[in-house]
Amino acid sequence: MNNPTPDRDVARDVILDISHIDVVFPTPKGSFQALADVDLQIRQGEFISIIGHSGCGKSTVLNAVAGLTETARGGVILNGREVDRPGPERAMVFQNHSLLPWLTAFENVALAVRQVFGKTKSKAKQKEWIEHNLRLVHMDHAMHKRPDEISGGMKQRVGIARALAMQPDILLLDEPFGALDALTRSSLQDSLMEIKAELDNTVIMVTHDVDEAVLLSDRIVMMTNGPAATVGEILDVPLPHPRERMALVEDPTYVHCRSEVLRFLYEKQRKVEAIGRHNGKSAARAGDDAKVA
Ligand SMILES: Nc1ncnc2c1ncn2[C@@H]1O[C@H](COP(=O)(O)OP(=O)(O)OP(=O)(O)O)[C@@H](O)[C@H]1O
Ligand SMILES: [Mg+2]
Repeated sequence: MNNPTPDRDVARDVILDISHIDVVFPTPKGSFQALADVDLQIRQGEFISIIGHSGCGKSTVLNAVAGLTETARGGVILNGREVDRPGPERAMVFQNHSLLPWLTAFENVALAVRQVFGKTKSKAKQKEWIEHNLRLVHMDHAMHKRPDEISGGMKQRVGIARALAMQPDILLLDEPFGALDALTRSSLQDSLMEIKAELDNTVIMVTHDVDEAVLLSDRIVMMTNGPAATVGEILDVPLPHPRERMALVEDPTYVHCRSEVLRFLYEKQRKVEAIGRHNGKSAARAGDDAKVA
């Protein structure tokens, strides 16, 4: 971390401190500043969504937390230790499941379990643990199938089981349900809520889906448009858990939160787009806006 800020008043139960990070990428045309002063503290057991227009820098924030992308300024501190490389205490699930195609669901999860628990759990305990995590995501019936024998939703379930099986301090989800149809997506959201209720995981999820963000999150982090994207607003979602999607449709708090996110994305950030276009920047991003909701 190049610019530590030890005098900050960070609450005791903060497990992850994303402290004033800048991310700059080298490109053939010179350096490109993707993130500027992103500052966010996350408490144990919180479910945080990051939402923003396409290309604003959501995945870059997640990659910085995962230790896959270096920060040019500031740093990421998990449980008091600075993140400088990937590690099993930060398990990532990507939009396009990243299962090894020649291994079964069980074997895919087993790889991660061996990596984390190879020296501390016996073979029998590892097998039990793998099966337990596949059961949590309702994949126990198909655990000996390979990725090409199961649906997209089932592959994402295995990806989540693999991440959970590492017993991470924090679960990082980058549009985990983005490629799924609406019904499959709902069913995976329900599973994620059940798992969260049982295990009290700390989760950061990137999403383009406003309803998904409100349904699942304790707080929604809304990012400004890039370059030099940052946290625009943070919205608390004060809905009690467990949440039931049908009951929420007309709940005034739900409706309010939903419209706050839409207002941010389509009014506040839209204005920035308009200024960008006025200054002669590309108008292509305007077409991307529809992807958000
Ligand atoms: N390795 C890289 N080199 C150069 N530029 C990059 C690199 N990775 C990301 N960027 C740029 O940084 C910005 C943020 O990218 P990022 O992938 O974080 O956006 P995003 O919000 O996740 O977008 P989407 O919603 O489309 O997934 C974009 O302008 C992107 O082109
Ligand atoms: Mg992304």
